[in-house]
Amino acid sequence: MTFAIFRPSIYMLSVFAMVIVIGQGSASVLEGTVSLGTLFVFINYISSFFEPIQELAEQFGTLQSSLASAEKIFSILDEEPEIANPENPVPVEIKGKIEFRHVWFAYEKDDYILKDVSFCIEPGEKIAFVGATGAGKSSILNLIGRYYDIQRGEILIDGVNIREIDKDALRHAIGQVQQDVFIFTGDVKGNISLNNEDITQEEIERAAHIVNADSFINKMPKGFDEPVTERGSTLSAGQRQLLSFARTLAYQPTILVLDEATANIDTETESLITEALEKLMEGRTTIMVAHRLSTIQHADKIIVMHKGEIRESGSHQELLQLGGMYKKLYDLQLVEA
Ligand SMILES: Nc1ncnc2c1ncn2[C@@H]1O[C@H](COP(=O)(O)OP(=O)(O)OP(=O)(O)O)[C@@H](O)[C@H]1O
Ligand SMILES: [Mg+2]
Repeated sequence: MTFAIFRPSIYMLSVFAMVIVIGQGSASVLEGTVSLGTLFVFINYISSFFEPIQELAEQFGTLQSSLASAEKIFSILDEEPEIANPENPVPVEIKGKIEFRHVWFAYEKDDYILKDVSFCIEPGEKIAFVGATGAGKSSILNLIGRYYDIQRGEILIDGVNIREIDKDALRHAIGQVQQDVFIFTGDVKGNISLNNEDITQEEIERAAHIVNADSFINKMPKGFDEPVTERGSTLSAGQRQLLSFARTLAYQPTILVLDEATANIDTETESLITEALEKLMEGRTTIMVAHRLSTIQHADKIIVMHKGEIRESGSHQELLQLGGMYKKLYDLQLVEA
């Protein structure tokens, strides 16, 4: 509005002034009361009179847009997080036991995505979730980091309700590899450490080495200092995945949460990733979502989700013997392979 009104009206004023001077002045010149030279000088005076005013108007416009931006910034800073931190958090040294007790959860009112979900994971165990698209697997992973609050039931970590644990402490213990990996503008190094000063170059390189990411990083012209663009358009899907493993490992989480991407990865990268995953999971409570059943056969427990409910659970062998949904999925993938 300011832009649309202020500057043009100043401009209009200057044009009007010019019109009056030229109109009145030329009449006077014709009458012979004013010389042509005087008129010319006046025209110049008028334009130099309005120049600074015009400039001022421009500065005013810039000021207005800065104020508008500042308002947006402050409204974000003032945003209250939806998930409230407990007033007196229970101090816990998170060991990695996770328990869901009759959890009901909906993103939107009453449209339950998870219905009466219960399970228990002991520290160091590896649990895998399988199920069709939209079954609620990623939602379960989001709940463990308390990115949403549940409507009914309880989620306990080491026996403490997550509503009573300090949010930062909770999320610090969780290493999350998401379905779509986000790469930040900067360099490879910064994408592993997330620019955390506490993580040394040595630790970055070690993390990358453990998950086999160093082989492709070292091939790049600048190695760990290689610049990458937002979303990582210069990296392949498999490389982005390995980079995100290194990032997760650098933070030494107690609980590992993995959401497998369905992206097609060549068999060579897939074996690199599988190997990297095994190293990543060592000694950590791991919860993963897998689409390729081949990657989860060694999980301690496999939970089959169907439309927000737990349909089957057990080890790979047990589920095959049961002959239910898991067996069907497995046979399907076997045929595909
Ligand atoms: N942020 C959100 N807001 C509202 N609804 C959501 C949100 N995220 C997911 N949903 C809905 O919740 C349901 C479960 O989604 P979820 O992402 O947990 O599925 P999923 O089992 O991980 O599927 P996929 O195998 O495709 O990753 C879906 O019906 C989805 O539409
Ligand atoms: Mg998902």
